[in-house]
Amino acid sequence: MSYNNIVVKENNGITTITINRPNKLNALNMETIKELHEAFKDEEADEDTKVIILTGSGEKAFVAGADISEFADFDVKEGTNLAAKGQRILFDFVENLSKPVIAAVNGFALGGGLELAMACHFRIASDNAKMGLPEVSLGVIPGYGGTQRLPQLIGKGRAMELIMTASMIDANQALNYGLVNHVTTQEELLPLCEKIARKISNNSTVAISSAIKAINAHYKDGVNGFNIEIQEFGNCFGTDDFTEGTTAFLQKRKADFPGK
Ligand code: COA
Repeated sequence: MSYNNIVVKENNGITTITINRPNKLNALNMETIKELHEAFKDEEADEDTKVIILTGSGEKAFVAGADISEFADFDVKEGTNLAAKGQRILFDFVENLSKPVIAAVNGFALGGGLELAMACHFRIASDNAKMGLPEVSLGVIPGYGGTQRLPQLIGKGRAMELIMTASMIDANQALNYGLVNHVTTQEELLPLCEKIARKISNNSTVAISSAIKAINAHYKDGVNGFNIEIQEFGNCFGTDDFTEGTTAFLQKRKADFPGK
């Protein structure tokens, strides 16, 4: 499929999706959000893709936010719909994807950009990255899940301060806060993400998808995460991956998971 705002490349089980609007610091307009939805949906269905890396093009930005020029004249109803649709088709969609999604934060991740990185399963940043949710400086609040995911990741007090001050933190502060898992140089960012993705891709894709569901269950209203874990744990016993994983262990060989 061809896209106007993103580039999708698959390499031996690892698919990199690059948001490609460098002149606008990869700001998320609605067309980009829709294209990302299509790309994530396609990659989830594509048996060859085991892990997805999401990054931004250019050396300056991952994503500098939602495209302000698109919503500057919106009214209450349009604003509500913008957040609801974006959350449904992209941010919640990515968080609940059955395949691992790693955000390679290669520069500014602001507003919707940080919200997108936070919707990914984990984040790795280059040392030039800057992160923040500056929405209150525009008279609005984060609308793509930022008020929920930021406190989950860094704690309520830090999230309150970061959102209220609209300030940015650098990559090392983000590491210190637990917002990103690793910090590296710009050159090493994608190689490091690929190395971790490769390690993930050697494991059972079915079990990983169950792990994503069980971990996410903790954060869902009215859902008991321990019960979801029990269900998902049980389901694993009916998979070919489980048979292969346990047989390979007992035969003292490396597992070759069928992914079913
Ligand atoms: N929406 C729309 N356009 C954006 C954008 C956004 N969120 N972020 C950057 N851009 C555009 C700029 O308008 C500019 O376009 P132009 O050249 O056509 O004028 C281009 O990207 C480059 O940005 P510029 O501001 O010139 O770069 P900079 O290096 O001086 O500053 C930032 C970088 C990230 C500090 C600054 O672009 C910024 O504050 N962006 C908005 C961040 C934000 O508030 N995001 C939350 C949105 S809810």
